[in-house]
Amino acid sequence: MSKVDVFTAAYARDRDANDPLSYLREKFVIPSKSSLASKSLHSPVPPADERDNEPSIYLCGNSLGLQPALTRAYMQQYLDTWATKGVYGHFKEVEGSNLVPWLHVDSDCVPEMAKIVGALQSEVAIMQTLTANLHLMMASFFKPTKERWKIILEGKAFPSDHYAIESHIRHHGLEPADSMVLIEPDKRDSHIISTNHILSRIDQHASETALLLLPGIQFYTGQYFDMPTITAHAQRHGIIVGWDLAHAVGNVPLHLHDWNVDFAAWCTYKYLNCGPGAIGGAFVHERHGRVTEHPPIEPNGEPSFDYHPRLSGWWGSSKSSRFAMTNRFHPIPGAAGFQLSNPSVADTAAVKASLDTFQLTDMKALRERSLQLTKYLEDLLDMLTTEQERRFERRCFSIITPRDLAQRGAQLSLLLQPGLLDPVMESLEAAAVVVDERRPDVIRVAPAPLYNTYADVYLFVKAFRLACEDAVTGKTSVADGEPTVMAEGGRGEKGWSEVK
Ligand SMILES: Cc1ncc(COP(=O)(O)O)c(C=O)c1O
Repeated sequence: MSKVDVFTAAYARDRDANDPLSYLREKFVIPSKSSLASKSLHSPVPPADERDNEPSIYLCGNSLGLQPALTRAYMQQYLDTWATKGVYGHFKEVEGSNLVPWLHVDSDCVPEMAKIVGALQSEVAIMQTLTANLHLMMASFFKPTKERWKIILEGKAFPSDHYAIESHIRHHGLEPADSMVLIEPDKRDSHIISTNHILSRIDQHASETALLLLPGIQFYTGQYFDMPTITAHAQRHGIIVGWDLAHAVGNVPLHLHDWNVDFAAWCTYKYLNCGPGAIGGAFVHERHGRVTEHPPIEPNGEPSFDYHPRLSGWWGSSKSSRFAMTNRFHPIPGAAGFQLSNPSVADTAAVKASLDTFQLTDMKALRERSLQLTKYLEDLLDMLTTEQERRFERRCFSIITPRDLAQRGAQLSLLLQPGLLDPVMESLEAAAVVVDERRPDVIRVAPAPLYNTYADVYLFVKAFRLACEDAVTGKTSVADGEPTVMAEGGRGEKGWSEVK
């Protein structure tokens, strides 16, 4: 194929047809254009034409992943078990259900989750939610002393992480201004934080720092940090290292055990597709999860246990004595010993459905596909920039995500020129293209390697091109009565072909 062909719908279709993982898209429920447009759950807008029945262009897995086809069935099994067995659902196997007795629903999800984050099974627990897990981990691992009391984080951390860290600082009677080291981008007009810059900030505060907590992938820019290098460097200075993996899990391959990470936490509703607010995950390195049993000192006495300090609950206590109601906490070795409450079975049913879908492939294959899909998006956007510079004598947007493939996951963040965000997002919504915005001027576009296609990427750029054009010229495609996603040969296609 010639270079030019890359920028055609036929090329996108051809790539999809020859991609061995394309079939995974069928394992997901993709909102149709008419269901997105409808205000009612039960009556989609009657299709004005054939295209309204088509799937939407959904590139928003960085915010909320799509529903796996298995989820509805697994949820139904959970509801049926609850309806027909009541409390027996906790203990008894039920034929015809993919779910294990509820007593084990969380641990049943661990083996597959451990593969996704590169951990030993004993190092992973399905528990709580992301912010709650960050709190639990900090309660256990942030032990400020007179010499070491600081936490290093990024200046533009996701607000929940910032609040959580600040609250721990205050909880220990410390002052945030003197205790939180904020890492900002290297240069004033850049959004990127280089590894060297992070390492030098660590060096500056090394002797006074107790904890470093960073995101694996930055939510706003999509930058993927060099987790092993940063972890090793901070640990050499005696600093505990934790990672927020909200945007990294299910997006890039992780090797938390081999990278010697101290702890990590993540949500499951982005690239893991478990549904909004679903139960999260936590990693605790095996060296912190050990439980040493000491025999009773007196005859008929009780054994005692040594373990890493934590905030405890009954679900973290040994399964064999969990229902003995002894009031003696006997932690399960590993991350499971950090659990608090019995998990929501509705949530874990969704996690199970997601992981059963994930295990049709693996993170290595997904990453390879992801690198290509996102590169395709980048190439088309670069073409669009060239065209916009020529036609409008200005750039409508710039890509703020690193160009280096090793420093990004699926997401590209586009910084729009001031004033363009609202009209562009309006046009995209009218065209049933789903991406998300981060004010004041960024839209985030994420081809999720499990279900997005080259055609999705192509159609997004085509719609985005028209959206920018309309925003710059003050036109609205919808008011014009023109479809915003152009059929081949329409306004967009003609304009698009000018680019070639
Ligand atoms: C990077 C990051 N950290 C923390 C959170 C908060 O997650 P939760 O509401 O599940 O605690 C989010 C949510 O999107 C996030 O993106």
